[in-house]
Amino acid sequence: MQIVRTPGSARAIARTLHRPVGLVPTMGALHAGHVSLVERARSENASVVASIFVNPLQFGPNEDFDKYPRAFERDVEMLADAGVDLLYAPAVERMYRPDFASSIDVGPVASSFEGARRPGHFAGVATVVAKLLHAIEPTSLYLGQKDVQQTAVLRAMLRDLDMPTNVVVAPTLRERDGLALSSRNVYLDIVQRAAAPSLYRALSSVSRAIERGETDAARILATGRALLAPPLVWDYLAIVDPLTFEELDPVRRPAVAIGVARAGSVRLLDNVTIASANGVDPILTPPHDLPRAARIRH
Ligand code: PAJ
Repeated sequence: MQIVRTPGSARAIARTLHRPVGLVPTMGALHAGHVSLVERARSENASVVASIFVNPLQFGPNEDFDKYPRAFERDVEMLADAGVDLLYAPAVERMYRPDFASSIDVGPVASSFEGARRPGHFAGVATVVAKLLHAIEPTSLYLGQKDVQQTAVLRAMLRDLDMPTNVVVAPTLRERDGLALSSRNVYLDIVQRAAAPSLYRALSSVSRAIERGETDAARILATGRALLAPPLVWDYLAIVDPLTFEELDPVRRPAVAIGVARAGSVRLLDNVTIASANGVDPILTPPHDLPRAARIRH
């Protein structure tokens, strides 16, 4: 696995890779969820690029940029073991020069829920992902369903700006008790950790109610809200359109049940999709086999 540190060297080396090329962007502190994205990219591409960059633009002034978990040596080992060909890990100074001032605003889908609670967050995500795409020029961009609003924001950016990259969204990897894997789970104390799976149980109950044919959003959400275990408290629980993130009431399918629960200063974020009546998932990309001719390993 080669490691590059600047946009120029990333582009020069990425251009020598066999195509198709899959890109898996991350902020490091990797866990099995990130690795599952790399494995998916590995099975669908001739070359896989990963990036590690804790992006200051997407953290608010009172958020955890300085104490965001960092484990670079371990991350490098995990990515090499998972078959990554090229790791792009730029320094902040090489990504953002002192006079850097550009920003990508994708509009309404970036302004509700996470966008409303974390002003500037999705502009920071869109801007850094645009820079990563320009450096690597991948065939496909691999994203986790875990951050479902992020997938909608990035799809909107790619579509609106005619960026020639496919989006592949892969399912959320969970602990046995249902808690979605997250780099921030290390912040949970024992009591918070024990309560944490109740977020997924609440989202699953919302999903089941919709699958049973219930359409009254207020009623469905009230039942879901009651399932969160203390000391967790709701930030929000909602049923939204998978593309626009507008709330659905009455509820129709396809839909996504999204929720954020607070455990002290930690925000636990999760979602469950509700397929359309014909069974098509509104978020996940079905796996596809790499054509034989493109199956080259370095
Ligand atoms: P990060 O939080 O490191 O996540 C990197 C990718 O891993 C994202 O696409 C995220 O959705 C996915 N992921 C996280 N937890 C997962 C899980 N339990 N199962 C499957 N996939 C999971 O998301 C970001 O970084 C940043 O915003 C980034 C896109 C890199 C831009 O800075």
